[in-house]
Amino acid sequence: MRAALPALYRDAALYGLVHDEGADDEVWLLDLLARKHGNGGKTALEPACGTGRYLAGLLRRGWRVMGYDLSREMVEFARRRLSRWGKRAAVARGDMASFRPKERYDLAFNLLSTFRHLMTDREALRHLRVTAEALNPGGVFVLGLDLAAYGEEVADEEVWTARSGGRTAKHVMMTIPAEPRRRREKIINFVESGGKMLESAYDLRSYDAAELSALLARSPFRVAACYGYDGRPAELGAQERALWLVLKARQPLAAAQRRASRARTRREKAR
Ligand SMILES: C[S@@+](CC[C@H](N)C(=O)[O-])C[C@H]1O[C@@H](n2cnc3c(N)ncnc32)[C@H](O)[C@@H]1O
Repeated sequence: MRAALPALYRDAALYGLVHDEGADDEVWLLDLLARKHGNGGKTALEPACGTGRYLAGLLRRGWRVMGYDLSREMVEFARRRLSRWGKRAAVARGDMASFRPKERYDLAFNLLSTFRHLMTDREALRHLRVTAEALNPGGVFVLGLDLAAYGEEVADEEVWTARSGGRTAKHVMMTIPAEPRRRREKIINFVESGGKMLESAYDLRSYDAAELSALLARSPFRVAACYGYDGRPAELGAQERALWLVLKARQPLAAAQRRASRARTRREKAR
């Protein structure tokens, strides 16, 4: 069973206040990478879409989008936010380890280390499998995450203040690095806004470059390209550890393969 979601993921308005700024740069880069590595289509899927800030940016650039998230509050918030685009936008409730959209997309993306909320290889591989199945031929999956460097990292604290629509939020984020044996990075967040203090503590699964490469080798994807968060070309396994990987299906998933994969997921769930 899933652990309860961190408190900040259940307060979508506050999450939006803290994180909405800066989304335009990432949307610009997603659009660019899809044009460079993708199939030319303009439909996008965002697993764990949160408040829908990236989806809103893609809609403004002419995309048709779908997002899903495990948090009921995030789904309601994103639905309201995207409602003015009518049928061009859809938002559903779903889990990254199992959600299968009915349609196929040209771009899927999962940024901000959100993939690392999946705490086992089994769940991570399921996510990669269902996402590969959700892509049109030639489509790309952009996976954005921070990699670990075991033994080299130290505990860290980041503090920032966000302002929007007359509201202010102070955000403190503490990170305690993972040990290679447990592979759990600890995140502790404090958000103070309007006299209210919200505390969230959760773990993220850690991957160093070798662990991520080994996982991807067991998935339907290959790494087609790799970039730093600023969009500069990078390499998995080199110095840069904040990466956007552009993943493409190794070979188009045939209908029979899709059926076999669905049956496998059903069997895994039943265990
Ligand atoms: C760091 S936020 C990122 C949200 C959004 N992608 C963004 O960048 O603004 C992580 C999101 O993942 C969602 N989440 C966590 N675990 C999930 C799971 N197993 N399946 C689907 N969503 C999940 C949370 O509810 C939260 O909205």
